[in-house]
Amino acid sequence: MALTPPLPQDLLLVGASGDLAQRKLIPGLYNLELDGLLPPEGSIIGYARHGLTDDEFRNFAADAVKRHSRRPFEETAWSSFARRLTFISEEDGGLGAVAERCRQPRRLAYLAIPPSAFMTYIRLLADHGLVDGTRIVIEKPFGNDLATANQLDSELHQYFHEDQIFRIDHYLGKETVQNILVFRFGNSLFERVWNRDAVDHVQITVAESIGVEGRGQFYEEVGALRDIMQNHVFQILSLLTMEPPSSFRAEAIRDEKAKLLESIPPVDPRAVVRGQYTTGALGDQIARGYRDEPDVSHASNTETFVAMRLNIQNWRWEGVPFYLRTGKRMPETVTEVTVVFREAPIRFFSELPEVSRLRPNQLSIRIQPEESITFSFLAKEPGPEVRVQPVRMHFSYLEAFGAPPPEAYERLLHDAMEGDQTLFLRADGVEEAWRIIEPVLSQMPPLRFYAAGSWGPPQIDDLIEPRRWRLQ
Ligand code: BG6
Repeated sequence: MALTPPLPQDLLLVGASGDLAQRKLIPGLYNLELDGLLPPEGSIIGYARHGLTDDEFRNFAADAVKRHSRRPFEETAWSSFARRLTFISEEDGGLGAVAERCRQPRRLAYLAIPPSAFMTYIRLLADHGLVDGTRIVIEKPFGNDLATANQLDSELHQYFHEDQIFRIDHYLGKETVQNILVFRFGNSLFERVWNRDAVDHVQITVAESIGVEGRGQFYEEVGALRDIMQNHVFQILSLLTMEPPSSFRAEAIRDEKAKLLESIPPVDPRAVVRGQYTTGALGDQIARGYRDEPDVSHASNTETFVAMRLNIQNWRWEGVPFYLRTGKRMPETVTEVTVVFREAPIRFFSELPEVSRLRPNQLSIRIQPEESITFSFLAKEPGPEVRVQPVRMHFSYLEAFGAPPPEAYERLLHDAMEGDQTLFLRADGVEEAWRIIEPVLSQMPPLRFYAAGSWGPPQIDDLIEPRRWRLQ
């Protein structure tokens, strides 16, 4: 069904001069303007601690669009977008002034701020009468651990109903992540082998070549475990492994995801490797170590990389190891899921010299970039002898659909304005995810080091032994 513009409403962007607003939210909103998918009436009110004039905010937004928008800056769309923009700071009127500036009966309040500031802003919104008619978007990580996630939830529920609360994990807005469900439940072939009988193990990698990019202060608070593993990686994992939902309605899908997470036992800290990047090289560029990044302590114990092995204790997956990892300053930016199937029971070809090249079947789902799905299997090389080698069946989004998929934030901002919670997290799912890593949070494994531009600390090879990481 084609998307339609949401009802008139104002949009309050708390943390409007921050990194997320600049890279994702403002460019996302601008792309919705290009598609005619912003509300027909309503302002976009930027809010931050320190003041900008409306014109300075518009310049900041124009720069954000020019640098980060999926589609190019266009004068006509820009002028109608810029007319919506206005700025208020804490120094200059605070949320009282915001309440006066909100002209619409509905509004979306987006908290693009560090997790330690959520509680304060929830109370401030309530103190200024910005609750009725407000939907609130809370960025991840939702809390700092299970106890603080529960606290945050009770604080939110003091003022807001569950249908006003949008806990965002932008990976759920990615087309390729949503496609995991279509791939599994729209095709009968793979679902039949999607279980312990056929699958040897699964790997999920979320690698980024960037470092912390001026977000040192935020990152020191969270680290890779809370920034990506507890949310983005676990969300991919749950869509990949959950049981078929009774329908594609929000609650049915969220029920299955929560059930799946419930069947994962707490992770043993000995099955976790934490790493931090030191000075190294990416291509011909020298990259400084994490401890030399701005706003980072010289003795920081924060991990920029984490890998873990876990099990899902249910009928379908018992005994299948899942290897998950995420890190910054990796050799490339890639998010990929690989399902490795069991080897053929009898190796007819084991006498042949090519045996070293024989590989079990693998299905790789490339979430980004170059979004694709690839199945690899063995084929006979042409010729009189029986020589085999791995070949690939490949589906590329760009080739099949002629364009790369839209940015996740566009879809999610639109859905939040519409009040559609399908692609947002429910409290039970978030809490289950914290429960799984609770032992690791309370007994952090020692920090290992890896050079920027490498695939992580060497200890990750022991974690996956006797198997091997696919990307290395
Ligand atoms: C964010 C993390 O949630 O996701 C960032 O806070 C990370 O540290 C980003 O860089 C990655 O998102 P994407 O969409 O570029 O994979």
